[in-house]
Amino acid sequence: MSANDYDFATRAIHHGYDPQSHQGALNPPIYMSSTFTFDTAEAGGAMFAGEQEGHFYSRISNPTLDHLEQRIANLEGGEAGLCTASGMGAITSTLWTFLEAGDEVIIDKTLYGCTFAFMTHGLPRFGVKVRLVDLTDPGNLSEAISSNTRIVYFETPANPNNRLVDIPAISRIAHDAGARVVVDNTYATPVVTRPLEHGADIVLHSATKFLSGHGDVVAGLIVGSSEDITRIRLVGLKDMTGAVMSPMTAMLLLRGIKTLELRMERHCETAMHVARALEAHPAVLSVSYPGLDSFAQGDVARRQMARFGGMIPFEVKGGKAGGIAVMNRLRLIQRAVSLGDAESLIQHPASMTHSTYTPEERAEHGIAEGLVRLSVGLESADDIIADLHAALGAHNMQAA
Ligand SMILES: Cc1ncc(COP(=O)(O)O)c(C=O)c1O
Repeated sequence: MSANDYDFATRAIHHGYDPQSHQGALNPPIYMSSTFTFDTAEAGGAMFAGEQEGHFYSRISNPTLDHLEQRIANLEGGEAGLCTASGMGAITSTLWTFLEAGDEVIIDKTLYGCTFAFMTHGLPRFGVKVRLVDLTDPGNLSEAISSNTRIVYFETPANPNNRLVDIPAISRIAHDAGARVVVDNTYATPVVTRPLEHGADIVLHSATKFLSGHGDVVAGLIVGSSEDITRIRLVGLKDMTGAVMSPMTAMLLLRGIKTLELRMERHCETAMHVARALEAHPAVLSVSYPGLDSFAQGDVARRQMARFGGMIPFEVKGGKAGGIAVMNRLRLIQRAVSLGDAESLIQHPASMTHSTYTPEERAEHGIAEGLVRLSVGLESADDIIADLHAALGAHNMQAA
């Protein structure tokens, strides 16, 4: 049986690492070294020229990061992987690599707040045209795409409202026009969706979230073809952003990813219970969870999601004031941004993660002012639901 025949959970623990090549160490050593010595000056020159393999400086490559890059590439089903210092480092390193003034990028209307800021405020300053298109309807892409479109970019499920984008349908249209499809897979993780298997070209992550799983690192990962990843490594990452991951962070991520499948199964199972409990509560106006019968894009969810994720956006009666009052009454669920940790976390997108949108943009892009976003942790489902019930039970639906 070859290593690639192992199941996901096994590959998440073993892929790309042989203890016998590292003095029997069960865990990969952490190479805390910025630079690497050359046998000879000629060998150093050959490495710089790309004629000889080897590590020479940790902004370009590092053996600990190398293990993580191989592992995430395998789990996402891609040829090669790349580590970055943050999710934003992954996004900016990728986009800077493939764009120049005059090019066009098409982005979905709902994106994480800082991604939206980079796309709508950052890129246009350098002559890149960015078009916002509602990609939940692939027909909109057919109308908007042009021969100048280099990249089609989206999240599925999207932060914060769980809108889904049909990856194969969008990829077909983008490829016909010669554009690359870049998917932010932070919410789903490769346990739930593997975008490359559905036709995308590049998948990237805020590894700060479910991949780490423990809220102790800020990190990013990118997976794609060997050719694209080499370009991102040598152009976007090396020369433009310099957003390099620390070897210590790579070790923590390798550790977190060992339990990714186990954790995701629990996050998703608990989220299903919590979503049902929220939907049944009289103080709750709406819940957007792909596993619920009421979810508008259930067909897309079933086609491209193995499970339905750990994120639940919902609105309580009484709008923003109502949502904030409920948040402030929670005792177990922590008020914090970020997601995918063992601890359940709740935040208010309009005033926090999506405050980079104007109120008008939020209204147009379907991000309600009263929306609260729950990241379902690994505590018991009963305890999470009891905390929500206690906070919602005290909710004055008229006054709020
Ligand atoms: C979907 C998504 N993409 C990207 C990012 C940015 O990642 P980071 O905070 O690791 O830079 C985030 C952060 O919340 C996110 O939620």
